[in-house]
Amino acid sequence: MKRALITGASKRIGKAVAGFLAENGWSIVIHFNSSEKQAKELSETLQSKFPNQSFAIAKANLLNTDEVTALILNTVSRFGNFDLLINNASVFNGGSIKETSVDLFEMQMNVNFKAPFILMHDFAKHCKKGNIINLVDTRITSNKSDFAAYSLSKKALWELTKMAALEFAPQIRVNAIAPGVTLPPADNNENYLNSLARKTPMKKAGGVEPILKSIGYILDNNHLTGQLLFADGGENLGTPPGYANREK
Ligand SMILES: NC(=O)c1ccc[n+]([C@@H]2O[C@H](COP(=O)([O-])OP(=O)(O)OC[C@H]3O[C@@H](n4cnc5c(N)ncnc54)[C@H](OP(=O)(O)O)[C@@H]3O)[C@@H](O)[C@H]2O)c1
Repeated sequence: MKRALITGASKRIGKAVAGFLAENGWSIVIHFNSSEKQAKELSETLQSKFPNQSFAIAKANLLNTDEVTALILNTVSRFGNFDLLINNASVFNGGSIKETSVDLFEMQMNVNFKAPFILMHDFAKHCKKGNIINLVDTRITSNKSDFAAYSLSKKALWELTKMAALEFAPQIRVNAIAPGVTLPPADNNENYLNSLARKTPMKKAGGVEPILKSIGYILDNNHLTGQLLFADGGENLGTPPGYANREK
């Protein structure tokens, strides 16, 4: 049976990815940190919809190195080796370089880069074959510093994706997806999302569908490794001509 570990899978994009993989026959380990109730509900919902697959939950605070290093080992000892690691969990806090405290920098780097590094290392060591998919962000193509530590953590994760793709091939394929305007941050709404989306070539928020289709493409294409799929409606290309005039 195909089995995946998805980090931060209890809500939002991670939850949609879990639903997509479940519909495609995967058993899933739903990782969570604070959202235990949502993780349990998701596992129960998926279990009743797909009774021949399994949907377990696993808690780990990705800020805590001991908990990160235990996650893959515990997963393997509970279920055996698994085939797919999706590094989805992340923290997203703003601040220019001058505004970024050491604590903020460490939080962003530890959850968004150090934890995926350890999980990829452990997946390669213990599971030995399969796929790794890292969720980065279309922001990695820009040098805007409004989310300096976040953007740098995702730039580093993309560099790690390529390095790992080279080192782990051919047994493990490693790819990344760069979402753009997808869901509003937890503390903001659809209006905020739409105001951002209007500045992108496709002019509207993509929702989770482009990410799910990208995951399907990566899994189907068994010669693809070290690649970045933009699920961003063209945002990485820049702002379309005439945008500034239209906004006035
Ligand atoms: N949303 C967008 O529009 C967008 C745009 C570009 C890129 N992305 C990328 O796509 C991915 C998913 O985005 P999202 O908006 O769905 O993410 P999110 O809701 O901000 O976070 C996903 C999960 O990360 C987990 N997490 C945070 N801190 C953690 C910690 N210390 N230990 C363990 N888990 C932790 C949380 O789990 P608990 O709730 O269990 O604590 C949370 O549910 C992220 O990698 C993000 O960078 C998203």
